[in-house]
Amino acid sequence: MNRVIFYLNLNFLVIYSGAQVLSTNLLDKKVDSVLHLMTIQEKIGQTNMYNGFMEFTGPTIENEDNKSKIENIKSGLVGGMLNTLSVKEIRAAQKLAVENSRLGIPMLFGYDVIHGYKTMLPVPLAQAASWDRQVAEVSARISAVETASSGLHWTFAPMIDVCRDGRFGRIMEGAGEDPYLTSVMTEAWIKGYQGSDLSDEYTIAACAKHFAAYGFVEAGREYNTADISRNTLYNVALPPFKAAVDAGAATFMNAFNLVDGVPATGHSHLQRDILKGVWGFEGFVVSDWWSIVEMVSHGFAIDRQDAGRLAMLAGSDMDMEGRVYEEHLAELIKSGEIDETLLNDAVRRILRVKFQLGLFDDPYKYCDESREAEQIFKPEHREISREVARKTAVLLKNENDLLPIKEQVKSIAVIGQMASSKDVPLGNWRAQAITDSGVSLLEGIKNAAKDIEVSYSEGYRLSKGERNFVFELTLAPDDTTGFQEALTFARESDMVVMAMGEDCFQTGEGRSQTDTRLKGNQVELLKRIAEINDQLVVVLMTGRPVAIPEVAAIAPSILQVWYGGTEAGNATADILFGNYNPSGRLPVSFPYYTGQEPLHYDRTNTGRPGANPWNPSVVFWSHYTDSPNQALYPFGYGLSYTEFEYSNLSNRVKEGMVEVKINVKNIGQIEGLETVQVYVRDPVATVAQPIKKLVDFKQVRLKPGEQVTVEFILDEKDFGFYHPDFTFYAENGAFEIMVGKHSEDFISEQVMVTFN
Ligand code: BGC
Repeated sequence: MNRVIFYLNLNFLVIYSGAQVLSTNLLDKKVDSVLHLMTIQEKIGQTNMYNGFMEFTGPTIENEDNKSKIENIKSGLVGGMLNTLSVKEIRAAQKLAVENSRLGIPMLFGYDVIHGYKTMLPVPLAQAASWDRQVAEVSARISAVETASSGLHWTFAPMIDVCRDGRFGRIMEGAGEDPYLTSVMTEAWIKGYQGSDLSDEYTIAACAKHFAAYGFVEAGREYNTADISRNTLYNVALPPFKAAVDAGAATFMNAFNLVDGVPATGHSHLQRDILKGVWGFEGFVVSDWWSIVEMVSHGFAIDRQDAGRLAMLAGSDMDMEGRVYEEHLAELIKSGEIDETLLNDAVRRILRVKFQLGLFDDPYKYCDESREAEQIFKPEHREISREVARKTAVLLKNENDLLPIKEQVKSIAVIGQMASSKDVPLGNWRAQAITDSGVSLLEGIKNAAKDIEVSYSEGYRLSKGERNFVFELTLAPDDTTGFQEALTFARESDMVVMAMGEDCFQTGEGRSQTDTRLKGNQVELLKRIAEINDQLVVVLMTGRPVAIPEVAAIAPSILQVWYGGTEAGNATADILFGNYNPSGRLPVSFPYYTGQEPLHYDRTNTGRPGANPWNPSVVFWSHYTDSPNQALYPFGYGLSYTEFEYSNLSNRVKEGMVEVKINVKNIGQIEGLETVQVYVRDPVATVAQPIKKLVDFKQVRLKPGEQVTVEFILDEKDFGFYHPDFTFYAENGAFEIMVGKHSEDFISEQVMVTFN
């Protein structure tokens, strides 16, 4: 194989393979040649996915309980497994299938590699905050290289659920509140995982999840119903999934939630009409864990068998650990309730992915101990993780240019339990990351601080006891015993850097909250510190938009760093000390109060959007009496150590297209990266449109004093929307085009456009 390793301009490692991709025709012939040999039982086997041999004490296939699993694998009755880890374990499991079953069909091995396998990259929401396709692509590429080297060839990522509600813990796993930004990230993530050739042993199959509307669970509560309008489903929840199909995602995962009263797993309109029909998706759909069985609890299926029937009819091709297809499909086919052609279609889709991965050529092709030893957690990956993490931090506030840290600062007090944590920065959904394998903020500051005295005090305690993916996190009770030392250090130091935020196990699956204010007594300590030292920087670590009006009022500087992965501490220090000029922009609106959630910039106008101009004190308009309507920090927002000025917005309309130009100038003292954002509004339409929606953005790096003209070409796809019958088109007439720094700071113009 012709393999070239090269570096992109940002020194991001890209592994490129020149291998030939199977032509569709040849692929289909190969798939059919296998399908024709299969018995019904063997076909059903392909739709059956088992959880692996992982026990809490470690991986093993020797365990007594695994006996029936092993027998079924040997009989060719299992199509894939999740959570079987390491080359050794995967080879052993694959051997069971390939060397014992009648047809020797290899199994698929999948795992949740959400933001890294052992080298952690920033969590997906943070990656989206870079607004940089390369950040997403290279992060996925590193994940793929490590995952593939561990013997796996399928990740259950990217999670591309648009989510507008900070209460939902899984907001951390996606790209935030905007369908366009999420689509851009989706494309880059899939490219990063899958490369241009799935059979390359360093690429893995991606899985776009959770189809669909999982980000809209009511009140942000995990596994809850999604009561979503057709308009929002078509125009907000679905576009990233369309982008996933266009980017060639090999697989999809459906969702736990109801969509308009029907479980996503049993949703024919979503899976058959739209995904496999209109969009022409050729890969397969795996259910979410037990989501077929859960249709009984939803009140949609009578029993397990009925759930299996409904799921297969609706186009769920593979059953993740539910054992429903395994137990009931044969009976359903025999009774005629399921036509065998549906099963054939599911199996064809699954086999196709196995061929594309090259598993029929060599079932063990991902099982190479030397690659496993060489590639996983290698220094180059950590270095890239640091570069990536720097691009994800968002500077929320920087009064009097307190940051970057100036030369005259000779002592820094680093405060907060999370500042010394080597684990919190790894984030949740951390695959095989080793506990405490991250660089803490404190370590990062110490590594970077030259001739500066660094002291550390825990100050507040956020969590205590065991922290992990599975069990509820125990937050520390409010105790102020650490305050005194922290205050002393703060008093004696030139500057304070205080880590605040949430433990990483406050976000992720099963981590919904009703209150997104910072827990414990962090804010109390912040207030006390601010009284004695005004050279105060807050480094905020969260996986969700948090409600921080007090922090915003008190702290002169706030840097949102999310969970930045293995090298987080070094990456943050790069920014604090001015070795990197922050360039991240918010992919989610930060509210003043949790009660504003779900909060998003692309809202539609109410009939009473503003106060009565003749009598502003009258209450009868759409507002809260105890909170502003808008965000504390809006979507797209983020500061830099320099400043950018926008001028001369112009446009030229020609045959359904609008050429937009704007001048952007760096009017500050240092070089910086600006993200120029374009929003549009259709002010009058047959379906009321959002007051603005992001349609494009470009990043420009400018030296001090430098000015560029940034150009965009907008067309029907930017001005249009999905109509109730799922047709997409733009309606002729007037539009507003807004170009600027973020969703609330822009220059705008009106244009008239005719599309046909
Ligand atoms: C999650 C999925 C995940 C699956 C397998 C489910 O609980 O919703 O996102 O891929 O488990 O771990």
